[in-house]
Amino acid sequence: MNTQARTLARLIHSVETSDGAGVKLRRSIGSQRGLYLDPFLMLDEFGTENPDDYIAGFPPHPHRGFETVTYMLDGRMQHQDHLGNVGDLGPGGVQWMTAGRGVVHSEMPLQESGRMRGFQLWLNLPAKEKMKPAWYRDIGATEIPSIGLPAASGGGTVKVISGTVTVGELSLSGPMNTPERPLSTDPLYLDLHLPAGARFEHALPAGHAAFAYAYEGEAKIGEGDAARALPHQSAGVLTDDGDHVVFTAGAEGARLILVAGKPLREPIVQYGPFVMNTREEIEQAIRDYQSGELVSAQAPRESRPHA
Ligand code: FE2
Repeated sequence: MNTQARTLARLIHSVETSDGAGVKLRRSIGSQRGLYLDPFLMLDEFGTENPDDYIAGFPPHPHRGFETVTYMLDGRMQHQDHLGNVGDLGPGGVQWMTAGRGVVHSEMPLQESGRMRGFQLWLNLPAKEKMKPAWYRDIGATEIPSIGLPAASGGGTVKVISGTVTVGELSLSGPMNTPERPLSTDPLYLDLHLPAGARFEHALPAGHAAFAYAYEGEAKIGEGDAARALPHQSAGVLTDDGDHVVFTAGAEGARLILVAGKPLREPIVQYGPFVMNTREEIEQAIRDYQSGELVSAQAPRESRPHA
């Protein structure tokens, strides 16, 4: 049995940037052209007390070819799309959106003051699913399992947005783990709250890409001689080999997300909010957006396998 622990392979530091109509955020994965961690295309952290940093929001814009996962820690946003869907995102809630063949939507703040904080992760779709119909689900905070960690390892909690966590006899899966809608990249998305010195160990399937991002405090990844520091606000990419990871929170405790998924190993061609496999498909996406075909209510085109 393989009991090798994964450790830190490299850091993708976050950089300040802005998107939408001027929302300030920190981007790590995806902050430079081609800086992906297959199947993850982008990770944005937004966090501010200043309404000027978020009030303009993200007015209508398109997406094609991947999924967006928005996790709100603080504040309220409203999502509206071209199909007339409207959904509110509140503290602790998640919106899981499959852009598929195309969506045009806005993401706007529902508050004029106070703190706005959270993450948006872009998760790629395999070629055969890039043109499936757009779909989304708003997941309220109460639908996301929260598990208390044993006092013997220092306590803390883990929230399961996607994937399965086993603590002692208890095994809980996230709201996106449904047999009706299997996710090809088998994503794990955990939010860990660890008091100072607390230890958390979690299994990771061999070959799945994985990273952690500490949004409060710092943590160590690995133990003994292999331990490496995960600094504040950087995506720490884990080594590929090994079947589990161990975190130990620093002196101030840590809040971090742990994200993992099965790599697609397909070509990636990105043009802003369109992520396809070939340049021709990107040119088609731009034409479809300009003509309105991207969001036409027609039956979705038949998706075709790629060589
Ligand atoms: Fe968007």
